[in-house]
Amino acid sequence: MCGIFGLVSARERQDLGAILVEAGQRLAYRGYDSVGCATVNGAGVIDLRKDVGRVAEVSERLRLDQMRGQRGIVQLRWATFGAPSHRNAQPHLDCDGDMVGAHNGNVVNNVQLQDRLVRQGHTLRGTNDGETCVHAVEHHFDRNGGDMVDAIRQAYDDLAGDYALLITHCDENRLYAIKKGSGLVAGLGPDFTCASSDLPSILPLTRTVLRVHDGEILVLSPEGVRIIQVDTGQEVDREPVEITESMESVTKGGYPHFMLKEIHEQPTAAAELLHLLDQSVHVDRFLEILRASEPVFLVGCGTSYHACLLGAYYLNQIAGRLTVPMLPGQFITRAAGSVGARAAAVFVSQSGETKDVLNAVKVARSRACRTLGVLNVIGSTLTHASETYLPLACGYEISVPATKTFMNQALLFLYLAYRLADRDPAALDAVPGLLESTIAVTDAPARRVAETLAAWDELYYLGYGITEPIALEGALKLKEITYTHCEGIFSAEFKHGPLSAVRAGYPVTFFTAPDDVDMMINHVNEVTCREGRAIAVAQDNDVLRSNVQDYLAVPPSDPWVFPLLATIPAQLVSYYASVARGFDPDFPRNLSKTLTVD
Ligand code: AGP
Repeated sequence: MCGIFGLVSARERQDLGAILVEAGQRLAYRGYDSVGCATVNGAGVIDLRKDVGRVAEVSERLRLDQMRGQRGIVQLRWATFGAPSHRNAQPHLDCDGDMVGAHNGNVVNNVQLQDRLVRQGHTLRGTNDGETCVHAVEHHFDRNGGDMVDAIRQAYDDLAGDYALLITHCDENRLYAIKKGSGLVAGLGPDFTCASSDLPSILPLTRTVLRVHDGEILVLSPEGVRIIQVDTGQEVDREPVEITESMESVTKGGYPHFMLKEIHEQPTAAAELLHLLDQSVHVDRFLEILRASEPVFLVGCGTSYHACLLGAYYLNQIAGRLTVPMLPGQFITRAAGSVGARAAAVFVSQSGETKDVLNAVKVARSRACRTLGVLNVIGSTLTHASETYLPLACGYEISVPATKTFMNQALLFLYLAYRLADRDPAALDAVPGLLESTIAVTDAPARRVAETLAAWDELYYLGYGITEPIALEGALKLKEITYTHCEGIFSAEFKHGPLSAVRAGYPVTFFTAPDDVDMMINHVNEVTCREGRAIAVAQDNDVLRSNVQDYLAVPPSDPWVFPLLATIPAQLVSYYASVARGFDPDFPRNLSKTLTVD
């Protein structure tokens, strides 16, 4: 997830580079692979320095902190498509080098726009969509006699997707910004103004901020910020607000923990993923390999393995493709001996660094098996180790328990299954909205269920068929952050042994897909007739409701989308149970976000 910050000052500042570097450090929690700064001095000279790497190392190498000038922009790039490289790093210059800008977000018609700009005579140096934004503004600026606001308004219509852009022209001591679906906020200081993709980079400079809405252009000068509506060209009057929260609470977006913030980010992350997949040429390549291969393995650890389990259901039931979900060690010991060039393995890893997964990639490659990656961290080892990969587009996931990366892994498999089955994936456009309403309707009941579960030290989560992976994932999440033992199993197996755990009040949670209600009612009654307490996670269903004690109802949806929605109450229950037990869900004991050991 990229981050941008820009500042315009009344005077030439010797400390401008240091301010930009510090702002960059504050944006770093969002995750990134390259860094760049552009400054402009009073004579209109643009100094642009950028490269792949961490803020501190790039700053030391390129002396970013020694840059000077009246205004400047810093950008941290999180590559989605287009490799992390010097030429794709931001900010970008226009053709003649008198404009410089950087963006945050995704321009989904990037490929088409770049083609058009090249045909119109523009010189593009890389493939990054931030560069497209700068040239799109330049294109209109050169035709309208040099009016930046007008040029940005026209470029806004050209640039599809969700993004925020910061741009400046060397002849004016102003910064321009635009917001369309990505975060943007402005700050007002005594002799400067600034704007950023997120608040934490502004707060050390000023606590007086202006909220910005989609479809608004900011004109930042040292004296103040003008807000102009893109569609009408009218100026908007808005009072600034004073921010009183602590820096820590602002970094967490006002949520008490990153985990809760990341649960709430799932609708946006899902929308971004769907945008990316619709526009990506990599998807076709990925599908081509899947179509041509047999067998296909889905390989991952922990939560990523559970996404593989669900992915196998989707690919089997929707696309009629037999796919085999496996842990990396299982792949090495049970499958690798018989795979060859006809086989393909999709390696799924949020971090792209999990050693178990990389071991399996190595073995697969040694057998000439096709290797595909699904990962969140672009530039990670898995990006290089796999033949081709698809990004999860979740931005940085800070909390150790994976939430939004699981959601996007599962959604990505659902999308691939639709494409393999020649179904229109536009049907999935409803998913972000459904995730949003699921969070809204399940938050309070999940909190109540969490109080019940928090009192027990060993539990069962049951799923049938397509909900089995959700039962396993919910159980893992609960174990990970509450230190309670919770076993996720196929519900039909419960009577074959674990049923002996049931006694008066013992809670058992049933993840029930709409088509499996009748079957699950049998399994529920095996528990309730022994005085156990049944908790259902399901779409609303009167018959099921009359058989259980607690009900976490998710909104109605297509049956394939149900497992995604059922994941949300499982995440919320774990989160609230962890907090109820007095633990920090973000940093569970003994665990690490990236496991680079065997
Ligand atoms: C999930 O909540 C866990 N933190 C863990 O199971 C994780 O999914 C596993 O370690 C795999 O990590 P990866 O996706 O980065 O490969």
